[in-house]
Parts: sequence; structure tokens; C-alpha cells
Amino acid sequence: MYEDKIEKILITKEMIQQRVKEMGEEISADYAGKDPIVVSILKGGVYFLIDLTRAMTLPHMIDFMVVSSYGDSQETSGIVRLVKDLKEDIRHRHVILIEDIIDTGLTVDYLLKNLKTRQPASVEVCSFLSKPSRRKVEVPVKYLGYEVPDQFVVGYGLDYQQRYRHLPFVCVFKSNE
Ligand code: IMP
Ligand code: MG
Repeated sequence: MYEDKIEKILITKEMIQQRVKEMGEEISADYAGKDPIVVSILKGGVYFLIDLTRAMTLPHMIDFMVVSSYGDSQETSGIVRLVKDLKEDIRHRHVILIEDIIDTGLTVDYLLKNLKTRQPASVEVCSFLSKPSRRKVEVPVKYLGYEVPDQFVVGYGLDYQQRYRHLPFVCVFKSNE
């Protein structure tokens, strides 16, 4: 079991469900009549994307990107590489970029610049979590689930060495190192 790996639950399953529902409603109101394309970054963002889009009440498309950042597993190096691109053409489309967490901001900063070169009608960022105290580059976040303190968290898509993504809550991880 992983009880010994969990230091503290920060965001419960009920808090996640409630907040995601509100965010889906807010996006549905803001994008009424616009048929947006919701873009998620594999793998972490997928858990949030699936719940969020099911809370949305307007027609939309989903698509995926894979990025890889060089460096150790707990921090972004800042050098982001696009491993898999979108399938859809986003020119003149309204894009909503989904992230699991914004930490330094480097990943989203890179992706925003990349997506904007394709002449979308608009691009907004929707992240479930944010660690504002860790920011190295300012990124505009239109929709945010929760802020978390500067601690390493897992669950609801977030991993430690590719594990614990499936946990239905967000918790502070104890690496025992
Ligand atoms: P950024 O480029 O520093 O904003 O990094 C964002 C990415 O780093 C996220 O998409 C996560 O994959 C990863 N990350 C940042 N903080 C955490 C954390 O506390 N737990 C798990 N992954 C994290
Ligand atoms: Mg990750």
C-alpha cells in the first residue's frame, strides 16, 4: 500500500469534483457558440481533461500533445521538446490549453508561444493546480482549480516517476530520500 508515501491530502476527491464541475460550467458560459478545441498535454493533463470536458455543456473537440523536458524528474529544465504534435489544425479556432499543474511556468510558456504561431482565434490556459511561489516566467492562467504550496504533490494525473497518477486526490508525496 502507499499510506507511507502520503504525507498529507491537500485536495480531496470531493473538492476535485466540485471545482471541476464549476470550471466546466464557467468555460461553457464563456465559450457559448464558439466550438472550442481543448488541448491536453500527455500524460498528466488527461485525468483533468476527461473530467472537465464531461462537465462542459457545449460542443467542442479534444486533442493531445506530448512534450518532454530534459532534466531530473522533479523539476523542469526549461528545455521543452515537442514529442507529439496536435492532430487538428487550430487556425482560426478557439484553443483551451489544459495543464495538470503550472510550476515554473516554462512548459506552458513554450506551448503558448508554439500554439500562437499557428494563428488560432484565441488561446487560454486552464490548469487544475498552480504553485505560484515557484514561477520563473509569468504565464496567463484564465481558469485555475487550486493553488498549492511549494511541495511535491501527486495524484489526479500528477506523478512521481510515472506512478501515483491514478490517486483520486492530490497529496504531498513522501519520497523517503
Ligand atoms: P513547469 O514547466 O515547471 O511549469 O512544469 C510543469 C510540469 O512539471 C507539470 O506538467 C508536471 O508534469 C511537473 N510538475 C511540477 N510540479 C509537480 C508536482 O508537484 N508533482 C508532480 N509533477 C509536477
Ligand atoms: Mg510530469
